[in-house]
Amino acid sequence: MSKPLRLGIAGLGTVGASVVRIIQSNASPLGLRAGRPVVVTAVSARNRSRDRGIDLNGVSWHDNPEDLARDPNVDVVLELIGGASGAAEAVVRAAIENGKSVITANKALLARIGVEIARLAEAKGLYVGFEAAVAGGIPVIKTLKESLAGNNITRVYGILNGTCNYILTRMEKESLSFDVCLKEAQRLGYAEADPTFDVGGFDTAHKLAILTSLAFGVEVDAEAIYVEGITSISLADIKAADELGYRIKLLGVSRRTDTGIEARVHPTMVPKGSSVAQTEGVLNAVAFDGDALGEVVLVGPGAGGNATASSVIADIVDAARGHTMPMFGLPASELKPYQRAEIQAHKGGYYVRLAVYDRPGAFASIAARMAEHAISLESIVQHRRDAMPEGALADASVPMPQPVVLITYATTETEIRAALAEIESDGHIAAAPTLIRIESL
Ligand code: HSE
Repeated sequence: MSKPLRLGIAGLGTVGASVVRIIQSNASPLGLRAGRPVVVTAVSARNRSRDRGIDLNGVSWHDNPEDLARDPNVDVVLELIGGASGAAEAVVRAAIENGKSVITANKALLARIGVEIARLAEAKGLYVGFEAAVAGGIPVIKTLKESLAGNNITRVYGILNGTCNYILTRMEKESLSFDVCLKEAQRLGYAEADPTFDVGGFDTAHKLAILTSLAFGVEVDAEAIYVEGITSISLADIKAADELGYRIKLLGVSRRTDTGIEARVHPTMVPKGSSVAQTEGVLNAVAFDGDALGEVVLVGPGAGGNATASSVIADIVDAARGHTMPMFGLPASELKPYQRAEIQAHKGGYYVRLAVYDRPGAFASIAARMAEHAISLESIVQHRRDAMPEGALADASVPMPQPVVLITYATTETEIRAALAEIESDGHIAAAPTLIRIESL
C-alpha cells in the first residue's frame, strides 16, 4: 500500500468542515482516485470546543496555524482561513518554507500575492492548488490551465459572485428591494463577512484577476481591474432591461485588446437568451472564448461548503498524485507584466436611463448631443406619463421629469460619458444618468 497523503487543515469553517466530512465518508473511492489513502492528521481553528459535526479523534490540534504548517506529520497544508493577509498568508508562507504543498480557497490572498506564492512554490518544486478560489465548485481553474491549453483565449467572463446574482435574481423575480435581498443572502450564508466585498464587486474582481492571469499568461493584478458594484441598481433598471430583452447581471469580463487587457467588473445588460442571463440565484457561470474551441460556458454552485470542498478535494487528488504544474499554467518567470487597457477605450453598446424634463425640445437636444459624439441610438423608450399634477401639461415652467431609456449602438466609454456630461449641463435631466454597459454575447 502506498504511503498515505497526510493533510493539515487550517480553518474549520463551513468549507473546512465539509472537506473533513467528505474525506471521511468517501475514503475508499477517494483513495483509489488519489492513488493512495488520504488522511487528515492535523487541524487548526480558532474555537476548539465548537461542535462541527465531524470526527477529529486522533487528529492533532494546533492553536497556531503556522505550527500546523511545520508539523512533521503533515505533507500538504490546506489554507481555508480566508482573508487577503494575516493568518492565511502566514500559514501559506510557513508551509512553503517548510517544503509543503498548499491548497487554498483564498481568492483575496491570491489576487494580492498570487504571483509571489507561485514563485516561492516553484523554486521548491511544490504544488499550489486553488480550484476552490474561483467560482466555488465549478472546475474553472483546471479547465483554463489544462483542458483549454491548446487555445488562445480572447475573452473570459462570468457571474463570479453568488450573493450578487442571488440579489439581482430576487429583485427581478419578486420586485423586492436591494436591501431586503441582501439581508436574505446574508441569512443564507452566501455573503462574505463584509458584504461590501460582494455587492461592491471586489470579490468578483479578485476572482477575475486570477482568471485573467490564467487566461492571458500575465501577472495577477487586481488593482488594474475597473470595478463597479450593484448597489445603485434599481428596480426601474431591472424592469426596463426586461422590457428591452435584457437581464442585469454583475459580470467580470476580461478581454485581450490591441492596447492591452481590458478587465472590468460592473452591472451588465446581457441578452435574455444568453447562458449568463439564464444563470439564476446563487449559481455562478464562467465562459471562455478560445480560438480553437469557440465558446464554452460552465454553470454551477459558486459558494457553499460542499461545493467549495468538492474543488478542494480535486486539488487533494492532484497533490496526492504529485502533480506540480505551475500555478498559473506557465512558469511564474514567464508571466508577462500586466498591461492595462483603460476603461475609457471600452467599446460597446450602452443602456442609459435619464429623468428627462418633459418639455418641447428635450428629446431633440439629447439626440443632437448623442449625434455630436457619433453615437447612434438603437432604441428609445418613454412611457406615457403617470399621474401628472393639474396644469403641468399646459405650463411648461413646471415640467415633470419622466424616465427615458436609450439603448445605443457600439460607441466608446469616452464618447458616451462626454455626451452624458453635456446632456446634464444642458439642463434637460433632473438627476445623474444611469449608465449600464451591454455585453455582446
Ligand atoms: N461571497 C461569495 C459569493 C462566496 O457570494 O459568491 C464565494 O466566494
